[in-house]
Amino acid sequence: MKKAIVCTVGALAVVFASGTMAADAALGKAKAAGCSGCHGLNGMSNNPMYPNLAGQKDAYLAKALKDYRDGNRKDPMMEGMAKALTDDDIANIAAFYSSQKP
Ligand code: HEC
Repeated sequence: MKKAIVCTVGALAVVFASGTMAADAALGKAKAAGCSGCHGLNGMSNNPMYPNLAGQKDAYLAKALKDYRDGNRKDPMMEGMAKALTDDDIANIAAFYSSQKP
């Protein structure tokens, strides 16, 4: 019984820690599933109209996404994609793409 409680507390600690910790590339990868159609599975696009994101600086990626979301950078495709993202989503997605090899 005591063991079960310890386990539960441990699991909760992990959940809370990941909520407040620095960006999570694995979560970002999951969130980026809908981006791969244009930007490629790992951020390398095979369409000349869509930029590569792999290996880009994470702060730059995060800024670009916030700019699209908040209307400071205009692109009809990206505005629609960025609207649904929270700050946490953006941090995670930026961590994912910046960690990919171009
Ligand atoms: C329908 C195609 C499409 C989809 C889907 C899409 N993008 Fe884009 N993305 C673009 C295009 C086109 C641009 C370049 C727009 C411009 O000129 O500003 C762009 C630009 C970007 C940039 C800026 C790159 C730079 O070098 O400045 C980022 C970051 C980005 N997209 C991230 C994402 C993320 C994250 C998703 C998924 C949530 C996503 N995109 C989904 C088409 C798409």
